[in-house]
Amino acid sequence: MMKPISSEPLHTLTDYENYSVTSQTYDTTRNPIGLEIILGCFAATNIRPLHEQVILDAGCGTGNYLQAIHHKVRACYGIDVNEGMLAQAQRKFGKGSLVKFDHGSLVNLPYPDDFFDGITCNQVIHHLDDPKQTDAFPNVQAILSTTYRVLRPQGVLVLNTCSRQQLVDGYWWADLMPEVVDQMAARIPSIELTMEMLEIAGFQIGGIIVPLHEVLQGPSYFDPAGPLQKSFRDGDSTWSLLSEEKLHRTLERIRTMNEDGSIIQYLDEREKRRKRVGQTTFIFARKS
Ligand SMILES: C[S@@+](CC[C@H](N)C(=O)[O-])C[C@H]1O[C@@H](n2cnc3c(N)ncnc32)[C@H](O)[C@@H]1O
Repeated sequence: MMKPISSEPLHTLTDYENYSVTSQTYDTTRNPIGLEIILGCFAATNIRPLHEQVILDAGCGTGNYLQAIHHKVRACYGIDVNEGMLAQAQRKFGKGSLVKFDHGSLVNLPYPDDFFDGITCNQVIHHLDDPKQTDAFPNVQAILSTTYRVLRPQGVLVLNTCSRQQLVDGYWWADLMPEVVDQMAARIPSIELTMEMLEIAGFQIGGIIVPLHEVLQGPSYFDPAGPLQKSFRDGDSTWSLLSEEKLHRTLERIRTMNEDGSIIQYLDEREKRRKRVGQTTFIFARKS
């Protein structure tokens, strides 16, 4: 494994999810959703054609987005703070691969100014600030500023995050753990605030896109007994916020609903809500 960029110990800034463990099973349920949104934004709003662009996946995790994007662009970089996630990512690419990985934190991106044509950052910003310490989002703001620095003028950032409504209605199990959904919502700046923070960093907002037809967990999302398996829960860090006792109670409830058959109607109802709000929001913005 490569050496970290800095001699300081690297951490996720908040550490409620242990990615060194969950990296082992993360890909069991996680899919790179919104690919056509990301590629469309890079292709349509950048001055260079897509195949000439240099792209960064910031918080690349196990490399699912890079795997789908790398052959469409000139060069790809991935950076992540967790070595377990990076090891999984590197395993997806052959020795001669042109995808370059760095072990580092987004707070201090180790790239020159004006380097990338496009940056994508998927489902990372809920790991950056701890609402117990501050209700502002200093690390998210820092990351938007460093992202701005390393983008070329006219370069595009595509940021994939969740609105509060999506946390409540976009994931069927959220209804069974409302207090944890509140905790997760407190970790994420609202879409409106995120756009303000992008503007403070210097970006011009391009727009917002919500994919309604895709779910982060792919077909496994619809498995009514899915959460009973740890590998399924490892694909959504919301589960990590539950205490042992609440996790036990929630799983008992899911088990009972599976046994008495009521889960089918329950999932139908939840699915109607998800289809209205989606699971994720993509904000794209340009360096002026
Ligand atoms: C939910 S995963 C998303 C991974 C990938 N982007 C995806 O969508 O599949 C969050 C990732 O953010 C990474 N991460 C969290 N804080 C970070 C930081 N400060 N710098 C770099 N990566 C970070 C974690 O290690 C983890 O791989």
